[in-house]
Amino acid sequence: MRILSGVQPSGKLHLGNYFGAIRQFVELQHKGEALYFIANLHALNSVRDGRLAYALTLETAAAFLALGLDADKAILFRQSDIGELGEAYWVLGTLVPMGNLERAHSYKDKKARGLPADFGLFAYPVLMAADILIYGSDVVPVGKDQIQHLEFCRDWATKFNVAYVPGYDAANPNGENGSPQGIFKLPEAFVCEETAVLLGIDGQKMSKSYGNTIELFGEDKEVKKKMMSIKTDSSPIEAPKPAENSALFGLLQAMAPPGEWPEIETSWREGGIGYGTYKKKLVDYFHLYFDEPRKRFAELMGDKAELEKILEKGAQRARAYAAPIIQKMRAAVGISRSG
Ligand code: ADP
Ligand code: TRP
Repeated sequence: MRILSGVQPSGKLHLGNYFGAIRQFVELQHKGEALYFIANLHALNSVRDGRLAYALTLETAAAFLALGLDADKAILFRQSDIGELGEAYWVLGTLVPMGNLERAHSYKDKKARGLPADFGLFAYPVLMAADILIYGSDVVPVGKDQIQHLEFCRDWATKFNVAYVPGYDAANPNGENGSPQGIFKLPEAFVCEETAVLLGIDGQKMSKSYGNTIELFGEDKEVKKKMMSIKTDSSPIEAPKPAENSALFGLLQAMAPPGEWPEIETSWREGGIGYGTYKKKLVDYFHLYFDEPRKRFAELMGDKAELEKILEKGAQRARAYAAPIIQKMRAAVGISRSG
């Protein structure tokens, strides 16, 4: 099973990113051949500062490694290092109905909010589909917001196969009835549903767009300050505390050592401990959980040449997966000689 996903380096990583996405990606490296890339081309839609874009790309790569991704097992690479992607993106784009792109949430939502939309944002799902198809991915772990992009990807792969693979039967994409396999494999979305949405320090969903995050690799002082300022209600110390919609409760649940969680949960529901005490516990749990990765992150960021080397090696391995598929695609559309 070939597992592939991309992460945009578009901001400082926070606890929501870890518990909602990165942790699952790291676990999945043991379930098949995992390819993970830093989607730095996609991020150009939102980061318009070259220095920052470069720094965030390396930080995101270092974060994955520090948080447990094994670069000898999984393939970690940078999207822009695979030059062939641009060609596949164009070829695929020649088959993409405008109507699909006009319906894409990424574009529609921005337009609905009255914000100016660029071609890059409009074309974003095509680049994402090319990302998925050129590596022959079977499974793509993504958040719910990306499901539509996966559906488009399957539709466009089918269109391509129907157009360019003689005898391809869209009803039997795996050739069960003796029809030929497509050049592009149809990927499945894998939605990591069971993770709770972590709330930020203001009680809304934790998101860099709301400025309410707790960063994974922020300064100790900053982390503590943020944690101590998590919004809570006015329940007195002795009162039972509401768990629902409580950012503090959710964060404790995510980070408390399994042995301590039952006690925390019981006291939370029965009362007797004040929010301030829970916040101090949260700071301790954060350090217990993340101090090792934070140390590794600092080491990795201190040796950018080594990081670049890891990414280059990843790109070489990724290219080997892409090469046979790209070759077939080029021959099929007639930009290289077939046979
Ligand atoms: P942000 O909302 O900060 O811009 P992204 O959209 O870049 O975050 O999120 C990247 C991934 O991190 C998402 O696919 C999602 O799975 C996960 N994620 C982000 N915020 C949260 C959160 N508050 N709780 C759980 N998962 C989250
Ligand atoms: N669009 C994805 C996101 O914003 C990132 C991404 C780019 C991606 N290319 C991909 C995810 C290919 C999965 C597969 O989260």
